[in-house]
Parts: sequence; C-alpha cells; structure tokens
Amino acid sequence: MKILVATVKPFSKSAVDSIREVVRESGNEFLLLEKYESHTDLLDAVKDVDALIVRSDKIDEKVIEAGNKLKIIVRAGAGYDNVDLQAATAKKIVVMNTPGQNSNAVAELVFGMMILMNRQRYSGAAGVELRGKKIGIHAYGYVGRIVGLIAKGFGMKVYAFDPFVEKVMVENDGVKWEETAESLYSKCQYISLHLPANDKTKGSINYDLLKNMPEGATIINTARKEVIHEDGLLRMFQVRKDFRYFSDVAPDNKDEIESDYADRCFFTPKKMGAQTAEANLNSGVAAATQIINFAEEGDIKFMVNKF
Ligand code: 3PG
Repeated sequence: MKILVATVKPFSKSAVDSIREVVRESGNEFLLLEKYESHTDLLDAVKDVDALIVRSDKIDEKVIEAGNKLKIIVRAGAGYDNVDLQAATAKKIVVMNTPGQNSNAVAELVFGMMILMNRQRYSGAAGVELRGKKIGIHAYGYVGRIVGLIAKGFGMKVYAFDPFVEKVMVENDGVKWEETAESLYSKCQYISLHLPANDKTKGSINYDLLKNMPEGATIINTARKEVIHEDGLLRMFQVRKDFRYFSDVAPDNKDEIESDYADRCFFTPKKMGAQTAEANLNSGVAAATQIINFAEEGDIKFMVNKF
C-alpha cells in the first residue's frame, strides 16, 4: 500500500520521521509532498496512492477524482470540513479524522493569545488579569475541555454550552452548564470558540449573540473563520468600544478590522493552533496507525462518512 502524506503546512521533521517509520515497519510505502505550491502538485501526487494523510489541505472533488486508487483519507486533526465527504463517499473512500490528538496545542494557544493581549502585547503598559473572570466555552469537545482545565488553573470561572454533550459530563469536570448559547454569551466576558464549521454553525456567531456579552467582551477563535458572521463581527467593533477579538483563523475582513481597531484585535499570521511538535507527532502517527489498522483489520472506529 502506498501512503502519501500531503501537507502544505508541514509536520515537524521528527513527526515526519515517526510517521515514515510506522508506515515502513508495517511493510507499506511512504511518500511525502510538503509545502506544495499548487493544487496541480497535489493532483499529480495522489494519482497512484492508496491512502492519504492531510491536514487542512483542500481535498475537493478533483483530488478525489485524481486519486483513483484511493481507499482512505485521514485528516490528521479534528476538523474535516476541508474534505469533500460527498465526493469521497460516492467513490467509497473512507474518511477519518484523529480526534483529540492535537487538542492540547490548540487549547494552549487560546491562553497564549489572551495573555499577550491582556498584557498589552508585552509593551509594559498596565494590563488585566484572567483570575476571577468568567470564560464560556462554546462547544465542549476535546479542545474545549482542555481550555476549561487550563482556565481553572488561572482561577477563572468556567462555563460551557454544547448541545451535543451531556450536562452531567460537563458538571463532572466542575464546569457550569449553560442551557443555551444566548445564556453563555450574556454571562461570560471571555468566550472561546470550538465549533466545527458546518451548515448549522457557519455564520452562527452573529451580532445578536455577541451584543449581549458583558463589559470587556472578548472572543477567542481557534476554531474556524466560517463560524463567525463577519459583518456582525465588524459591527461589534463599531458599536462596542470594549469588544476584542483574538483569532487563529482570520476572517476575510481582517484588514479592515486591523486597520481600524488594531488595539482590540489579534490575528496569528497563519493558522498555527495545532502547530507544535507534540501535536504533529500525535496526530500524524495516529493517522498512519489508523490507515494500517483499517487495511489490516478493517478498523473504521474514526470514520466520519457513511456508506
Ligand atoms: C484541526 O482541525 O485539527 C485544527 O484546526 C488544526 O488544523 P491544522 O492541521 O491545519 O493545523
């Protein structure tokens, strides 16, 4: 079996070495396409491979068409909105993700951005502390849960809203359960977003939801740019002089926001939440192992499409 790792944003060298080792030890062939510059490079590279490991790389219908031997695609990470599931399913290609493997890295970045901005970008000007403040976690999955744990270490009061998670599970973590997104947003000064991008969530963080946030309203988005309603975001900056937005997934209106509200926003230059040696290693090796387990035992535990 030929297993291709295709990543515009490369894994760390040690992660690539480990993935290669896992693939070769299982008697399979390892192929690597990193930092590719055009979609055509990807189309060429997938032609002859059986399995594909990607990150946020766009796996559209064309890639799936070009990969006519493909049996499995693993998104080394959580969100698989970059993979055309319908096209993959139509060709009976199994699609998987590697949930939880890169979550800690993303959760740590949430606090990295909060501290940076709360301390005035380390300029020496007086800042504000996190202790005693309320943080609302919107979507309590792997990342959200770790954000809650770390927030408690900072002495924050932690709340969560997630329609897909049992109340008891949230409360067992010592986190306060909120019944609705509206109640979470109206209670918490800080909101950390951990929603996937799908038809239901796209544009769902809108002005109506944001406008009721208390004084010092701050959104931290390490999830997906699509979940924010961009006009609503801009309106919040215009209407609320206290509103701040820190994001690892810059919106399309980033330049406008940055030019007018530079002191109240922060955008990483490139999405980098999961870009740590540990997250690369965990998600990359998990992806390779899942492919091997699928090929050898038909293991589909992490399959995200159905056919
Ligand atoms: C994920 O969905 O796992 C994260 O957003 C990380 O994405 P990345 O692989 O592009 O860093």
